[in-house]
Amino acid sequence: MKRIFESASEEETVAIGAAIAGLLRPPRMLILTGDLGAGKTTLVKGLVRALEAGDEDSVTSPTFTLVHTYDGWQDDQPLQVVHLDLYRLESERQLATLGLTELMADDALVLVEWGEKFPSVAEMADGILCIEQPDLTHRRITLEMREA
Ligand SMILES: Nc1ncnc2c1ncn2[C@@H]1O[C@H](COP(=O)(O)OP(=O)(O)OP(=O)(O)O)[C@@H](O)[C@H]1O
Ligand SMILES: [Mg+2]
Repeated sequence: MKRIFESASEEETVAIGAAIAGLLRPPRMLILTGDLGAGKTTLVKGLVRALEAGDEDSVTSPTFTLVHTYDGWQDDQPLQVVHLDLYRLESERQLATLGLTELMADDALVLVEWGEKFPSVAEMADGILCIEQPDLTHRRITLEMREA
């Protein structure tokens, strides 16, 4: 599956994140790619909002903690949104201490910023959300899933 979304503002990107939440069913792991400030964390805000997993203002970048987990709902089923930022991780060895495989629970949607840095994460992922930045406010967001 491949879907392309166009955004002209931060708010539109949040709304696109919410729409993407409707296309995903756990367990899924997606890598979020895009330059610094592309809007990866902003997209996660939309997913968290749509999945009733918290106020979008509660979603901040897991820059220092590396992982944030939000408990939410989808179709009356409990689910977890697990948001990671691997920007500061330098080695597969450091990555191993995060226990990514354990985070990938049956009810989890795992969203990994900078996951493409690590071949093991790329291999584990079900798809990729790529954010391109044609100009200051415009974003092109491509969702590409391995199956269905
Ligand atoms: N159309 C847009 N969609 C999303 N963000 C936008 C848009 N236009 C401008 N912005 C700005 O871009 C920034 C996106 O920040 P965000 O933290 O989501 O990026 P990020 O990809 O997670 O960066 P990092 O790699 O540093 O974690 C915000 O400051 C936001 O206001
Ligand atoms: Mg971010």
